Amino acid sequence: MRFGASRFVAGETAEEFIGAARRANGDGFAVTAGILGEDTQNRQAAAAAAASYIDLLQRIARNEIDSSVALKVTHLGVEVDKELAFENVASVAATAQSLGNFMRLDMEQSHHVDDTLAIYRRLRNQGLQNVGFVLQSYLYRSLDDLANHLPLGTNVRIVKGAYLEPPSVAYQNKADVDINYMRLLARSFRHGAFTAVATHDATIVEAVIRLIEEHKIPRNRFEFQMLYGISTRLADTLRARGYRVRLAIPFGSYWFPYLMRRLAERPANLGFFLRNALARS
Ligand code: FDA
Repeated sequence: MRFGASRFVAGETAEEFIGAARRANGDGFAVTAGILGEDTQNRQAAAAAAASYIDLLQRIARNEIDSSVALKVTHLGVEVDKELAFENVASVAATAQSLGNFMRLDMEQSHHVDDTLAIYRRLRNQGLQNVGFVLQSYLYRSLDDLANHLPLGTNVRIVKGAYLEPPSVAYQNKADVDINYMRLLARSFRHGAFTAVATHDATIVEAVIRLIEEHKIPRNRFEFQMLYGISTRLADTLRARGYRVRLAIPFGSYWFPYLMRRLAERPANLGFFLRNALARS
């Protein structure tokens, strides 16, 4: 946790995650847990990642924490073998279902979207109800992906997108990404899908609240989601206004790529990062 990663990451161990999640629950937030890891390149590491998620789900149940889990298909082996990744993800989803919990597939780089959605569809076709996925509003394809998955009775998290993508597949301007974000949300709400509004953008949050009020979207059809350590004041305000807010809390030793994405989103974080690095050197 050197260099200030601890602002965005609960710690390196499941114990530390449980402590942070308990505090978040105590403050009135639901939680979703992510074990840091991606781009796994061998079968053993992919199986170990699935085992860690199963252990985490059991700890969440034992400690009576209000937390779902979210995972990345590359962490569970999609770059090694697609079938292996499916088996690994399915074992986590089955454990979540047996414990009355929920599992979401995060969305990674655009070349992983087809594989991620294929895994999601297979899980649903096998009768698993307790799974959801993520769509990124910077991708041109996301509206079509949403339309194709709405008939499944979907639980979708809408985000803007955290990876560097080329103009051939993704909007490059914030204004276009934001417009598409609102399009995706409106479409998802209209269809009655459960929608996780995952953003720290206060302007978008206010626009979403207007949309929710105008269309009388029931409170049990959506929630706001934010990342641990970011925009805590906005999260507090939403919770105080009576909205359900879920904090995504990551933990684990492989925090470097996650920290880099958080720095890239907001260059001002770089000052924070450098201050920590200098203070510790
Ligand atoms: P935007 O980037 O426009 O920022 C709006 C405002 O939010 C900023 O002005 C600033 O105040 C604040 N802010 C945003 N990022 C910040 C940061 N890093 N540090 C400090 N302040 C910041 N992406 C993805 O590709 N796949 C995924 O599966 C997920 N999953 C996911 C889950 C949840 C719960 C959240 C909230 C986000 C994700 N993301 C994601 C990340 C997402 O795609 C996006 O990169 C970030 O949320 C930043 O975009 P915003 O919507 O916050 O808006």
